[in-house]
Amino acid sequence: MSHRDTPLTLLGDLTPAEFMAEYWQQKPLLIRGAFPDFLTPLDADELAGLACEEGVEARLVEENGPAGPWQVSHGPFDDATFERLPEENWSLLVQAVDHYVPAVANLLDEFDFLPRWRVDDIMISYAPPGGSVGPHVDQYDVFLLQASGQRRWQLGNKVADNAPIIPGIDLRILQKFDLEPGSDWVLEPGDMLYLPPAWAHHGVSQSDDCMTISVGFRAPSADEAVTSYADYLGEQLPPSTRYSDAGMAPVEDASEIDDDALERMRRLILDTLDKPAQISQWFGRVMTQPKYVDQLIPHDPPLNEAQLVAELQKEPLHHAPGSRFAWRTDGNVTTLFADGDGFVCTQELAQRVATPRPLHEDILELPEATALLTQLVNAGSLYWQLEDEEE
Ligand code: SIN
Ligand code: CO
Repeated sequence: MSHRDTPLTLLGDLTPAEFMAEYWQQKPLLIRGAFPDFLTPLDADELAGLACEEGVEARLVEENGPAGPWQVSHGPFDDATFERLPEENWSLLVQAVDHYVPAVANLLDEFDFLPRWRVDDIMISYAPPGGSVGPHVDQYDVFLLQASGQRRWQLGNKVADNAPIIPGIDLRILQKFDLEPGSDWVLEPGDMLYLPPAWAHHGVSQSDDCMTISVGFRAPSADEAVTSYADYLGEQLPPSTRYSDAGMAPVEDASEIDDDALERMRRLILDTLDKPAQISQWFGRVMTQPKYVDQLIPHDPPLNEAQLVAELQKEPLHHAPGSRFAWRTDGNVTTLFADGDGFVCTQELAQRVATPRPLHEDILELPEATALLTQLVNAGSLYWQLEDEEE
């Protein structure tokens, strides 16, 4: 039996195959006890500490802020910010906690029936009683795992792209939220709610220790994909590839753009874009683009291959926090994608490197491993962990 046909507690005893067929991208699923006896991997003080650090993306949402209703402020925050907050009706939201807390990153292993490159990040929120970000929709799939305390979740239905939002505030809050009958639950620690994109939802803290973990997914919009793919291709196209009308008949009316002209342009665009090998190379790069590009720290000074081998014999290599890997084989050529770059290597090596496990020196037995690992260490995608970072 393949792992996709094994019922999972995480999915309320559905198999991954059943979950994907019936719920993923289609409808919400409430899972009581998805993580039995769940203990939050960090507490509210630790989350607030992260929100005070430079480079960490954090937001504070105050329903009745000093500057007006639904005030949003951005981190880094300081002690004074937290001291001035009221006892109710605010939320602190910290993005990409998986980049900073290994125990949070480890939660991603539970979702490995989904492509890892679809994951965006793990956001964690804290809210005292009444805290919420208002009824809204997100364009992404999300698993909302209750980490501590209680949150009441109310769901609406799927909402159109142009659903009216409250004007004049920094948050996208729906003007109209229609509770779907039967979609009103209080989640306890370890309970989880899966939401597909565009589903209206409203989560309100019911306790003074409400923490919610959002495992969020990314999917490029057609708008982003077309622009980004065109940019990628554009860099490789010679200036001589352009609109051409050799052999055309003389025109009747010199001002008209006729059907033949339009068809020539359409063919140029479609033939230029429809390149499976290029789409493959672009897609791997885009989906492994780090969330925060400046978090990658290149090895300084760069290592040579002999130094890499010597270091790897001492300590295993780890995937840098926030680094993203994927691989793909086209015909008989495999590309390992790492942090927006592509490296041709054997499929076995690509799979080993892309799997989120430490890399030990035995990997050097694989052909071309030394050169590849040296490049990845120098780029900052792989690194040697400091002792105090280990779990
Ligand atoms: C929250 O954790 O407060 C909000 C999460 C969400 O609604 O997407
Ligand atoms: Co949301």
